[in-house]
Parts: sequence; structure tokens; C-alpha cells
Amino acid sequence: MEIVVAATYEDMARKVAELVEAWVVADPSCTLGLATGSTMIGVYGALVADYRAGKLSFADVDTYNLDEYCGLTADDPQSYRYFMKTNLFDHIDIDPARTHLPDGASSDAEASCIAYEAAIEEHGGIDLQLLGIGHNGHIGFNEPDSFFPNGTHTVELTDSTRQANSRLFNSIDEVPTHACTMGIGTIMRARSVVLAASGADKAAIIKAALTGPVTPEVPASILQFHPHVTVVVDEAAASELA
Ligand code: GLP
Repeated sequence: MEIVVAATYEDMARKVAELVEAWVVADPSCTLGLATGSTMIGVYGALVADYRAGKLSFADVDTYNLDEYCGLTADDPQSYRYFMKTNLFDHIDIDPARTHLPDGASSDAEASCIAYEAAIEEHGGIDLQLLGIGHNGHIGFNEPDSFFPNGTHTVELTDSTRQANSRLFNSIDEVPTHACTMGIGTIMRARSVVLAASGADKAAIIKAALTGPVTPEVPASILQFHPHVTVVVDEAAASELA
């Protein structure tokens, strides 16, 4: 595991974007696993800036997002599909048909999760998976549990996750109670992983995930067993690392 400490949020975002660009330039038809959240807004901003500067093309790239809320349609402004469109997809030359997220609006969420996992496998897997991290160590929406879930599945969100994500909704009552997420197995099968975090509020969980015991109670700790992980943190998020 390589740990890169960036000075600021902007610097972290740029370094993560450069790792993505290295993949896309080396293999223009690569498959990216994408994430949402505040950490990724700067990353996508840097990718859009570099696309506009002519540094790379996404025309042959396929993407699979980590997760999606259950019960929100793709055009709901709180959906992760909407987040991806407004922060990245609408501003680059990616083919919308090659961008994939779990179908949160499906009436049979579990069946659509199984189909999503099969689609990733059939496609040949993910080359580079981007990850943020929740305050409780979740990656995607894999919450602390007694086991590491394998494939894409539905989850009930913890109160702390709903609370943390409620800042983007009018009230906590509007935050969906369930989500579809890639499993820990899906994430671990990616050929390469980049985990990004910023801010002092992530320092304790970064320390636990990177240096503590590997346990499903801290889902991100499993990354200690992945052969190709780069962690990019700003100084505040790195402040509890020795
Ligand atoms: C959400 C997403 C995660 C993301 C996490 C951190 O819960 N499901 O994929 O990593 O939040 O988000 P942020 O970057 O806003 O701290």
C-alpha cells in the first residue's frame, strides 16, 4: 500500500485525478470504478479541467459506480446518477451508454444488484476503483458488519451514515434508508484501487483502516490485503498516522 500525503484538499484531488489520467492515457478503453461524495467533487473537477485542456479523452472508457440509493430515480437531484452527470459525465466526452450505476429505482433491488455484479464480471472487471471512506470505515455503502459481503447487494444504511449524508438533503427523513452497493469482493477484485480522504474528521478512521486490525467492523481495513492500493490523503486526514 502506497500512502501519498497531499498538502490540501485541492492537492489531494489533483493527485487522485492524475492517477486516473495515468490509467486512461495508458489504456484509453479502460474500465473505471467511480465513487461519489464531497471527496470526489474536486477529483472530478480536476478531470474535467484536464479533459477541457485536451489532455485526455474518455470516449472509449467504461465506468461502473460503487453505489446508488434505493428508491430514487436517475433524474432525482439526490441520486448518485445525478451527481455523476452534473459533476463529471455531462462535461466530458464519455458515451452515456458506457456509464453504469446500480438501478436504485428498481422494484426488485436485490435482482438488479445481482444483474449489476454479473454485468461487471461479464465486462471483464474494473481496472481502477476510486473510493472515499465513511466516518465508520464504510467503502461504497458496505457498513461495519460481522462479515465482508462479496458481490453487489442491498444494504440498510446506519443512522450515522444517514446523518452524515443528510447535509445534502432537506432533512434526515428524506435520506433513503437503503442502498445498492458493490460488495467488498467486487472492490477487492478491481486490479487497482485509489482511496482518497480529506479533513481532520477522517483522521481517526484513516488511522484505523490503514494501521489497525483487518476486520469487517472497519470495512476499509480489508484494503490492507489488496496488492495495488494507493491512499491519497490531505495533511489533516493523515494527522493521526505515525
Ligand atoms: C457516501 C458514499 C461513499 C463515500 C462516502 C464518503 O456514504 N456512499 O461511497 O465514500 O460517502 O463521502 P465524502 O467524500 O462526502 O466524505
